[in-house]
Amino acid sequence: MEAVVQIEHLKKKFGKKVAIPDLTMEVYAGEVFGFLGPNGAGKTTTIKILTGLLQSDEGNVKICGYELEKEFEKALTRVGAIVENPELYSYMSGWSNLKMFARMRKGITDERLKEIVELVGLSNRIHEKVKKYSLGMRQRLGLAVTLMAEPEVLILDEPTNGLDPAGIKHLRDILKELAHRKNVCVIVSSHLMSEMELMCDRVGILSEGRLIQVQKIGAILETAQEEKTIYCYHVKESSKVVSWLEKNYTLNAEKKDEEHFELSIDNTDQLIEINKNIILNGFSILTVCPKEKVSLEDVFLEMTEKGGDSIASLNEE
Ligand SMILES: Nc1ncnc2c1ncn2[C@@H]1O[C@H](COP(=O)(O)OP(=O)(O)OP(=O)(O)O)[C@@H](O)[C@H]1O
Ligand SMILES: [Mg+2]
Repeated sequence: MEAVVQIEHLKKKFGKKVAIPDLTMEVYAGEVFGFLGPNGAGKTTTIKILTGLLQSDEGNVKICGYELEKEFEKALTRVGAIVENPELYSYMSGWSNLKMFARMRKGITDERLKEIVELVGLSNRIHEKVKKYSLGMRQRLGLAVTLMAEPEVLILDEPTNGLDPAGIKHLRDILKELAHRKNVCVIVSSHLMSEMELMCDRVGILSEGRLIQVQKIGAILETAQEEKTIYCYHVKESSKVVSWLEKNYTLNAEKKDEEHFELSIDNTDQLIEINKNIILNGFSILTVCPKEKVSLEDVFLEMTEKGGDSIASLNEE
């Protein structure tokens, strides 16, 4: 399958500050792709380059097969984006805004506009002035303007900003519908993993302009869970067990209190062997249980803190 968005060795500096050292990635039609990364990771910079708002220093970007540098217009007519606050006329109603943007394009009927208004969930407020809109309502109207052109690639920078939980769910449904039913290539950014987990089919984790992991949402959690699990032990004298463990294994044991410690274990075989040996050495185990499951949030924090060292090996496979 040909990628709809292809980024190759993209580089961008601001003065001496390297925002994107070297970014290569692909996004396909029919998927919601999430750019996930902490503040300053380079999400907006990448998105601005993709939407022609910023020029890259080096590298190649292709959209629907057109090179952004050489065939700027052809590439960008495929793209609909909301990067900064959408430009809206606040003294006009939502509907008049849409009509005005519709006039700039050909063949957009009122019927089509109504459909879009319905889709973004603004039907009951569309005739009010935009200055009376909440942030979330403006976002919805901005999305409506963007959708008018039926873009093949839809790019939204932090689209859930200002949306309430119901609004976030609604947006999620819209984006999934566009990707999965209309085959649109949807790219969103966020620093909230919990949100990306529900919204995206794949996420790319960005840290200091480097893509340290691209995977299907489920797979990121699986690899993280396969890697290590933390077990909570309830024993009689935790300090004795911990020092015995440290002497005999290269394991990470952390004493919590007189009767509890936590141990990070690679796999079930290791767990069985360690438990057996703890008991054979005269200690008593009252309970052992896995700590709560690793969340995408934990994985994300760990990856971005370490700069992705732990993941490098996975990508090489
Ligand atoms: N116009 C600019 N001039 C100088 N440095 C910039 C400029 N725009 C971005 N940067 C720097 O580039 C890096 C990436 O910024 P970017 O805005 O892309 O991050 P982000 O991932 O979108 O972060 P956030 O989650 O805060 O929106 C940051 O270190 C930022 O300070
Ligand atoms: Mg940003």
